[in-house]
Amino acid sequence: MKKIFVVIGTRPEIIKMSPVLPFMEEKFKLEILYTGQHYSKILSEKIFEDLQLKIPKYYLNSKSTNSSTQLGDMIKKISKILVEELPSAVVVHGDTNTTLAGALAANKLNIPVVHIESGARSGNKNEPEELNRILVDQIAFINFPFDANSKHSLLKENIRKNIFLLPNTAREAVKRNIKIAKQKSQILKRYQLEGTKYVLSTLHRATNTNNPTVLKKYILLIEKVSQQYKVLIPMHPRTKKLLKMHDLSLPKNVKVIPPVGYLDFLILMQKAFYIISDSGGVVDESLVLNTPLFIFRNETERDDVISLGKAALVKPSWGKNALFKFIKTKMSDEEIKRMKDIRGSFKILASKKNVTNYI
Ligand code: UD1
Ligand code: UDP
Repeated sequence: MKKIFVVIGTRPEIIKMSPVLPFMEEKFKLEILYTGQHYSKILSEKIFEDLQLKIPKYYLNSKSTNSSTQLGDMIKKISKILVEELPSAVVVHGDTNTTLAGALAANKLNIPVVHIESGARSGNKNEPEELNRILVDQIAFINFPFDANSKHSLLKENIRKNIFLLPNTAREAVKRNIKIAKQKSQILKRYQLEGTKYVLSTLHRATNTNNPTVLKKYILLIEKVSQQYKVLIPMHPRTKKLLKMHDLSLPKNVKVIPPVGYLDFLILMQKAFYIISDSGGVVDESLVLNTPLFIFRNETERDDVISLGKAALVKPSWGKNALFKFIKTKMSDEEIKRMKDIRGSFKILASKKNVTNYI
């Protein structure tokens, strides 16, 4: 049996790789190398536990200091293990620093790289994730985009060989775990949200949190929304740190809590009136759960979901007037109902195939 290494290191990578791991385990001797980019228990161990995943063989303590030293540290540590273990391939997912480190370390040792969720493009190279994606797609020996748009982006960048479609693993993870979440989660009771119309929000992107002007815009948006609905924010540690650094805070009536486990978060998304988020994973998850989503970004790699009418951009670059107008018109009860009711061409969800068909 060939030995394959999966290199992951953040919450979304654990979640989005979870549907693929059991199938890989059937065919290969599979080992997980966890970089420790996300090290807080709630962003790492708790997610492994919720998804009942295989324990990583290696746990590298590559905490974030700044991006370049973190990347260097990860490459060095990953390379050392790959030299000892010599796997037949290294599988990485998405667009984080862990993804890039895993791909570079393997490539320099002539170990083929497999990239899952390749070809996604936002067009904004100021985002670290966009550059990570582009670089890893170029390095990869096999690319697995999840739709025709992403495949097209790869072709445009002259990546023509070994492209295979693999259904979206974030959506697959929701389908597999929502029933379990309903049985196990007590989160609505814990925060007294049962039967309540509430808005769920998360924020974590560097392009949003590093910039105090954008953070202030987010606070303004949340403040306005919270005048109408209860707002719950499971706050990413990065955002907590940067709000403090810029001496900013959210209004007192907004419920700010630590991040929650994946099963709890599925329930929070499903029962929310709508969601405001800059998360990549939440775009797919909210679509499957049919909860309207407002993406707090100037652009997204997911124009398809916006075209469907199930999500809309609420742009940090807008002035106060445009923002308030948007809240009044597009975040109104009627509009949310309309977004929820859209059935139309649910083409991107129509496929009955699941991950099994492709492995
Ligand atoms: C990373 C990814 C981003 C992904 C996000 C998912 C990169 C460039 N960014 O961003 O693509 O969407 O993860 O959440 O790889 N921190 C903790 N505990 C942790 C992890 C981080 O407290 O377990 C704090 C630290 O102060 C750290 C900061 O959050 O400095 C940022 O963490 P980092 O891993 O650099 O990036 P994320 O913002 O989490
Ligand atoms: N998530 C979670 N608990 C939370 C917030 C998010 O389990 O408190 C999950 C969410 O369901 C999604 C993933 O974490 O699958 C998204 O992570 P994040 O937004 O940090 O990263 P991105 O998807 O933008 O890379």
